[in-house]
Amino acid sequence: TGWLVLALIAGGCVWYLDRPPLSTVGAVAFDRELAIPPLAPSRVENGFRVFDLRADSGVTDFGHGETRTAGYNGSYLGPTLRVRSGEKIRVRVRNDLDQDSTVHWHGAILPAAVDGGPHRPIRPGRTADMRWTVDQPAATLWYHPHPDGHTEEQVLRGLAGMFLIDDDDPRTAALPHEYGVDDLPVIVQDRRFGWDGQFGTRPDFSSDVGVLGDTLLVNGTIGPYREVRTSLVRLRLLNGSNGRQYDFGFAGDRGFHVISTDGGMLAAPVPRTGIRLAPGERADIVVPMRPGERLVLRSRSPAPDENILVRRFEGGMDSFDVLELRAAATLTPSTPLPAVLSDLPPPDTSKVAHERSFEFYQRTINDKNMDMHRVDLIATAGTREIWTVHSTHLMPHVFHLHGQRFRVLDVDGEPPPPELSGWKDTLNLPMDVRFRLLVTFAGNADENTPYMYHCHVLRHEDEGMMGQFLVVGPGREKFAATRHHPGG
Ligand code: C2O
Ligand code: CU
Repeated sequence: TGWLVLALIAGGCVWYLDRPPLSTVGAVAFDRELAIPPLAPSRVENGFRVFDLRADSGVTDFGHGETRTAGYNGSYLGPTLRVRSGEKIRVRVRNDLDQDSTVHWHGAILPAAVDGGPHRPIRPGRTADMRWTVDQPAATLWYHPHPDGHTEEQVLRGLAGMFLIDDDDPRTAALPHEYGVDDLPVIVQDRRFGWDGQFGTRPDFSSDVGVLGDTLLVNGTIGPYREVRTSLVRLRLLNGSNGRQYDFGFAGDRGFHVISTDGGMLAAPVPRTGIRLAPGERADIVVPMRPGERLVLRSRSPAPDENILVRRFEGGMDSFDVLELRAAATLTPSTPLPAVLSDLPPPDTSKVAHERSFEFYQRTINDKNMDMHRVDLIATAGTREIWTVHSTHLMPHVFHLHGQRFRVLDVDGEPPPPELSGWKDTLNLPMDVRFRLLVTFAGNADENTPYMYHCHVLRHEDEGMMGQFLVVGPGREKFAATRHHPGG
């Protein structure tokens, strides 16, 4: 048996090392115009701005024949919801899929009852009616299903969309904001097409982050270009992929400014030549255009000395062409970027109600796997807490917190880089890097419906890398604890 074991090990190594790299360098032809998801129509009814979404399956031609997909109000992705800060909104979501679904408003500050978590599935044929007041400043959010155990599958089929918040701050009004013209949604997703033109859904064993694709879809378009005619163009980058990370940058190292991250505007535009986004993270960037040029947005490969094993475990960092911007021969001058974008106060760590820490390892957070009947912690509405989040696992994990925002206090004891200094709800956790976060609990209290925190690698989320928390009113913590046994 000794020889047999050796032979099996040797065979396993050959099989493992012989597997093709996770993706090829994705040079594309840029021969299709970038699709821009339509703005969702709305109407005002009894003081609410009302939107209708319908989740359904369909068929989409990406250039690989007829691919079976799903979308909201269409066959792939969904319309962009655009709302104003302070507005009361109501979204009716009809589920015409053949399985339970939900819609989670990723990044939204809202009551747990309308957060779209797995506790309130929308059964096939049923409609959910979700109402809340938009109580946060201008930001680029998104929405996607969050049903128990089927999030990866439903997002992979195409269920996702953007949710944009505008506000009345004159500084944000000066930014490029004409949707589809100088303000472009850029939803980046990787997919693998099978021989039959269908999406590959087999997890890539060697990556362990679920399905990794070798083809990029941007707003559902493969190899997209977009004509632009302003001197500044804003791209709302959303990593809408299941497990892949991207280091976005332009060919020729064109500089750009990062103006906002997940939860809102940065204090000032941050000059950069690259930005990394983990699944679920967003960044708005503004890039200067030169008349007549073609400027290519890429996701760059890892450092050349990284070996194949590191590449396999790094969430598949490889080179992709993402999008070509084609500038008109003459460009309309844009308003220059304001020097100050928002009053981003330094994080206030006085009066912190609790300090907690969260270890991410394999499919657990603090050694626990998700249990819908277990509440992991109880927080008080309107308070602040310091959370330390830390991954001790070689696989990249991504921390996401529902219904609240946070600021990064420090990264391994050092101040965060400027692009991590603003409001966040999603954060990449490279192995052995310790992040201290100042979590701000919003005023929405509910003793019965929990929110979630979890890994945003959707395969990991489906496999239970998730915990639950209640946000209760001041003075209600003990009572809620006797009912829910947090930590039990
Ligand atoms: Cu974008 Cu709980 O997810
Ligand atoms: Cu994970």
